[in-house]
Amino acid sequence: MTDRFAIILAAGKGTRMKSPRPKVLHEIGGRSMLAWSVALAKDLGCKRTVVVVGPDMPQLSEAAAKLVGGENVAVQREQLGTANAVDAARGQLAGADGDAIVLYADTPLIPQEAGERAFKALADGASICVLGFKAKLPNRYGRLVTAGDGALEAIVEANDASEAQLKIELANSGVMAGPAKLMFELLKDVKNDNAKGEFYLTDLVGLARGRGRGLKAAVALCEERDVQGVNSQVELAQVERVFQDGMRERMMVAGVTLPAPETVHFSHDTKIAAGVTVEQNVVFAPGVSVESGAIIRAFSHLEGAKVSEGAFVGPYARLRPGAVIGRDAHIGNFVEVKNVTVGEGAKANHLSYLGDGEIGAGANIGAGTIFCNYDGFFKYRTVVGANAFVGSNSSLVAPVTIGAGGYVGSGSVIVEDVAPDALAIGRGRQVGKDGWAKAFRDEKSAAKKAGKKPPGAV
Ligand code: UD1
Ligand code: MG
Repeated sequence: MTDRFAIILAAGKGTRMKSPRPKVLHEIGGRSMLAWSVALAKDLGCKRTVVVVGPDMPQLSEAAAKLVGGENVAVQREQLGTANAVDAARGQLAGADGDAIVLYADTPLIPQEAGERAFKALADGASICVLGFKAKLPNRYGRLVTAGDGALEAIVEANDASEAQLKIELANSGVMAGPAKLMFELLKDVKNDNAKGEFYLTDLVGLARGRGRGLKAAVALCEERDVQGVNSQVELAQVERVFQDGMRERMMVAGVTLPAPETVHFSHDTKIAAGVTVEQNVVFAPGVSVESGAIIRAFSHLEGAKVSEGAFVGPYARLRPGAVIGRDAHIGNFVEVKNVTVGEGAKANHLSYLGDGEIGAGANIGAGTIFCNYDGFFKYRTVVGANAFVGSNSSLVAPVTIGAGGYVGSGSVIVEDVAPDALAIGRGRQVGKDGWAKAFRDEKSAAKKAGKKPPGAV
């Protein structure tokens, strides 16, 4: 197969976002827009991916270097247009023998098939292929001028288009593919004699055709929603919605039950098996997988967690990174689990913080149990053995182990290990005094009637 390369343009300032964060580091489905483009390049099998950033964008350069390696971050000194931006990757792709695809980092939802179609057009003989779509409102997009046979003749930017050209509905998504060598060769001839005074990448189409009969350009079609770009917070939210709607539909098609799909939020990597029910208003932050038969009840928030077959989570549960919920286990309302493995059939049904540790199979964690995992400097583990019973409102001060089958009396503060099958009670012993309450009431009400306040009363 021909080698593939990707050039991701991310040098735009993104001023319309009005955000201190670089535009393409804003997230869709819990992943930055830049990371979406890099993931697409990877899915397309690109051998090398170059990200073009602007000068003085340290946060962006750092993020790009993490994704593609510092040697693949190119800097476009001045924003002279999309052709100039691609040209900034010339050094990195010197000697690249194969096909290159240009992606905009602010266009995060391009499906892999669309990229494949662009490369396929090259394999089928086109010299340049752009992804085009039928625009509902084409006003600001470049128009694709095609010949009778569907071949692409030119791309005309809206600012430079004639009245007749403005009527064309076929718009340029911005994605362009071509042999790397040819693209860099043609880039040398791009001029900036246009309405914006910019070097337009889109001019490559006309230039390729100008080279003579051998070179043809083509359009690969895609859906408008797949190439929707982000320039403002409003558009960010619109693209997020496109992503969420797509994810919800894919989940349902795959056999996940969503009684109120419009209220469930997914991340790009959420994995949910067929036969899972996800109730209303559940949020899946990145890194969650849920196995078949589990039920995620309303208003739960999950991140970096695994939920095994048949488990119950929520309503109002919070699973944080490292929460591994075993088969048929129950995590109930207002229970927070972080970095804890919960064994098969174990239950923590109410009002608990379970952080750093493990809970054995069949154990029961009573309401209000707290794993006291932090001393202000370090964190420690709590281990609760299989079938142990932790009475309500207990504090387990880590590091501490409750042996298998051990029993902790309610309201205990446990600071020492509990032996298997032992009972531990760590609280003051109860004292009972017959008649005390009545005597107390009599004395106080008499004082009140007489208008005598005890010392210290206000
Ligand atoms: C571009 C296309 C237009 C297409 C539209 C789709 C050109 C000339 N026009 O127009 O045909 O319909 O996208 O959205 O290519 N960038 C840089 N450096 C630059 C200029 C731009 O990195 O000097 C980056 C921007 O950050 C952005 C992308 O390239 O991610 C596109 O630039 P933009 O100015 O938005 O191009 P459009 O005018 O929208
Ligand atoms: Mg744009």
